[in-house]
Amino acid sequence: MESVRLLRLTSRVWLHKFALVFLTIVFLTLIFKALKSSKQTASQNVSNERYDGEKDDEDEHGLAEATSSENYGVCQQPNEVGNMFQEWSKTNQTPLIIITPTYERSEQTAELTRLSQTLQLLIWAQMPLIWIIAHDSRVCHENVRALIDRKLGSNPFGNRQELQGHKNYNRPLVGTRLPVTILSAPMPSAFRDPERVRRFGLPRGVAGRRAALSWLIKHTRANDPGVIYFADDDNVYDLEVFEEISKTHRLSMFPVGLLQPSGVRGPIVDVHGRVIGFLGGRRPFRMFPVDMAGFAFSLALLHQKRPLMPFRATMEEEGFLRALGVDYGGIEPLANNCTRILVWHTMTAAPQVNSFQIPNPSGYSDTNLPLLAQNMVEQGLIKAAKGWFSHDIPTCLGQTCYT
Ligand SMILES: *[C@@H]1O[C@H](CO)[C@@H](O)[C@H](O)[C@H]1NC(C)=O
Ligand SMILES: *[C@@H]1O[C@H](CO)[C@@H](O)[C@H](O)[C@H]1NC(C)=O
Repeated sequence: MESVRLLRLTSRVWLHKFALVFLTIVFLTLIFKALKSSKQTASQNVSNERYDGEKDDEDEHGLAEATSSENYGVCQQPNEVGNMFQEWSKTNQTPLIIITPTYERSEQTAELTRLSQTLQLLIWAQMPLIWIIAHDSRVCHENVRALIDRKLGSNPFGNRQELQGHKNYNRPLVGTRLPVTILSAPMPSAFRDPERVRRFGLPRGVAGRRAALSWLIKHTRANDPGVIYFADDDNVYDLEVFEEISKTHRLSMFPVGLLQPSGVRGPIVDVHGRVIGFLGGRRPFRMFPVDMAGFAFSLALLHQKRPLMPFRATMEEEGFLRALGVDYGGIEPLANNCTRILVWHTMTAAPQVNSFQIPNPSGYSDTNLPLLAQNMVEQGLIKAAKGWFSHDIPTCLGQTCYT
């Protein structure tokens, strides 16, 4: 009898213990789930605000990386940048601030040459202007600096002595220099991760644009005059687009040609000159489906909002423009109410550099080939040694041609 009671008592104690443990587990699970779901709501809110429709933790990862990534180097900058802006404000001029991110590739020299000569024409037309080039690299590239120096130096036609006797040598405008800042601004390595690139693409140019904006904030004051334009080096610019841009008060937009799917991308403007929508955006969740080359904004707005461009391919413009906090009503349509196309996204087709070959120049030491080859290597058109010699390319020597 006594032992049966004892047994019952023991089992009841065990039952209590078991129930307690069970309830604790259920309780903890519920708390954990509640915490998790509230965290998800919060993170969805954040990503909705910034990207709309792309809800995952990567967004937040991207922005977190983004805020800590402005560690750029200054390779070159004009003397006394602050004074330049002060002079401009004294004479009531609005300088254009052109920001060009660039990266090493075979067509880089060609594209930077084209853009630098477009900008040089603006200087000759006496437009106030500063150009910020941000190179996607950890170190300063001598090639880029040398190219810019050559193209924008006191004589872009070259400093060759033999020109001096030439009848066209005394070109009146030669000698005006375009102020150039060159930054080294590498894309943070997290965004080169192959898995990430496969899912989201490569956010090219973002680190460069962000570095340029950081540099600007550091070297200008909130009430300095200026209009900022992101001019990538793979576009063609009508000089008129720069004149249009200089009319910007806060945020302006205009059409960009040669973009999928419509051949143009830009605002739709009503009869009252108000932006009511956009043409050519394929993504319904984008508020501002415009191209990087299709808008300009004031230096004052940059200082006021300190916008960050997200490290997310195809969403750079969207994230940036939302951060500027201007709604449709505040957009200033340029280019005659967005009826003219003054910039084209031409995108030079990347040649297959590895397939370029010339005869091994060491076999042609008494010809131009060694220096030509050296120039090609500098421009990234061929890789030394890899690019030497092939009978498959048309080469003629004397009357003999190898094809
Ligand atoms: C999400 O956004 C809505 C509307 O903007 C707001 O009412 C709500 O409190 C936000 N939720 C969280 C978790 O931040
Ligand atoms: C744009 O449209 C508005 C409204 O029709 C008009 O007042 C304005 O002059 C136009 N601007 C240009 C540059 O055509």
